This record gives sequence, C-alpha cells and structure tokens, in this order.
Amino acid sequence: MTAFPSSTRVVPPGSDVPQHVAIIMDGNGRWATSRRLPRVAGHAKGVDAVRRTVDACARRGVRFLTLFAFSSENWRRPPDEVSVLMRLFITALEREVVQLHDNGIRLRVIGDLSAFEPRLRQLIAQAETRTAGNTRMTLSVAANYGGRWDILQAFRALLAERPELADDPSQLDEEALSAKLAMAWAPEPDLFIRTGGEQRISNFLLWQLAYTELYFTDALWPDFDAAALDLAFASFRSRERRFGRTSAQLAADGLAR
Ligand code: IPE
Ligand code: IPE
Ligand code: MG
Repeated sequence: MTAFPSSTRVVPPGSDVPQHVAIIMDGNGRWATSRRLPRVAGHAKGVDAVRRTVDACARRGVRFLTLFAFSSENWRRPPDEVSVLMRLFITALEREVVQLHDNGIRLRVIGDLSAFEPRLRQLIAQAETRTAGNTRMTLSVAANYGGRWDILQAFRALLAERPELADDPSQLDEEALSAKLAMAWAPEPDLFIRTGGEQRISNFLLWQLAYTELYFTDALWPDFDAAALDLAFASFRSRERRFGRTSAQLAADGLAR
C-alpha cells in the first residue's frame, strides 16, 4: 500500500490549488525558429521559464511539480541538439540546485538514468541527496522518461520482488504496481499542462494521468510565466472532478462547483 491510493480505487481529496502539477514543456524549438535563432536558443530560454514556474508553483502552495524535460523518444533528435540538451541539464544542475535548496525544494529525477553520462548521473545523485530533506515542494524532472518505460520497469520490479505473482496473477492489484512506479511517493497529478499548442500526451505519465485534468495552451514554453500558470489554475478550479460519479452525487456530498 502506498501513501497515495490509486484514484480509480479511492476518490482523492479535492483542493482549489492543484497539489500535483505535471507539465510538458513544449515549444522551445518553435520559439527560437520564429526569431530566426537556432533551436537550442529556445532550450536555453526554456530554463528561465523553468525557474519562473518552480517559483510560482511553490508560492501558490503546489506540493509536487513534475516537468517533462527529455522523453525516451527525444534521442531521435539530431545528435547536436541532444548533446546541447544534455549540457543544459548539467549546467542547470550545477547552477540552480543551491537556489532550489534555499527555497526548500526537494529535487527528484525520474526516468531511465542508465543512458546518461556518469557526470550527469553524479550531479543528479548529489542534488537529490542534498535536497532530500526539503518539504516545501518536490520538483520532479522527467529525463529519459517514458510512460511505457515506467509501467514496464514497475512490472519488472514487482515481479522481481514477488515472483509468486507470476504463478497467480489474480493477486496483482493496482496498488502493488503503482507502488513501483517512478513517482510512487507522489499523489497522481491533479493538473496536466502542455504548452506549445499540441494536444497529446507524448508518452508522459500514462498510468498516473488516469483522472488528471488536462489543460493545453498555445503559449510556447519560453514564454510561460506566472500569469500563464494562473490561467491554467483558473481553468482547473472551474472543472468538476467527478471520478466516475454524477454531478448530483457531488452536490449531495456538498462537493459541487
Ligand atoms: C520542448 O520543446 C523541449 C524538449 C522536447 C526537450 P521542443 O524542442 O519540442 O520545441 P518544438 O516543439 O520543436 O517547438
Ligand atoms: C514532449 O515534447 C517531450 C518533452 C517536452 C520533453 P516533444 O516535442 O518531444 O513531443 P512530440 O514529438 O511533439 O509529440
Ligand atoms: Mg516539441
């Protein structure tokens, strides 16, 4: 049993401010191209938007912020762009962790880290250790992350721990599996934001988004700021989260919007 039961088994508590926000930070390349700059200039500018968003979320009382930084499919990009993204990640870890730590933010990196160079893995480990005791907000950076990878690695870990499940699969339940997911220590996201105008999940948190409110904005990631975040939060507040129930049931329980 995890600290946060599956939303399909137990209806999670509601709140005006989303407790867990998950963002696909998309549109860096288009931001740069529209200014006749190389795509990587958009990625560099995107780091400023990360800083702004982390700060704005912490100030608004968000407990978990998860940012999709590099997908398991982004290795398909030109090698030059991939190596700039890796360098940016390294620089950000070198420069930003002190500030995160001072702001009481715990950093976690989720994804298949085995593909990263040793220096990057070492910086990730150091940053996670340094910020482990912070409780104001947990910032999870999804790097070489894929939703399908996550579900598969969870199955593998579960079967390695409980091989008897292979002989009696009826014993397998949602909570056993979700306890092995990369973000088992966080509740499922309340709000998903994708910038850049595309309306797709792109292999982000497939399992965890089951009942997440989805919000899409045309704003390109380097332009995203506290005002854009507040628009997303306002949309979130206007949603009726029924988790399978009817509006009348919510009204009867005093939960209607
Ligand atoms: C998101 O911006 C950043 C990463 C995927 C690393 P993009 O680089 O995908 O920007 P667009 O979608 O090409 O504009
Ligand atoms: C999703 O953006 C991944 C990240 C933002 C890290 P992409 O730009 O890679 O997604 P697609 O290819 O448009 O679906
Ligand atoms: Mg993109």
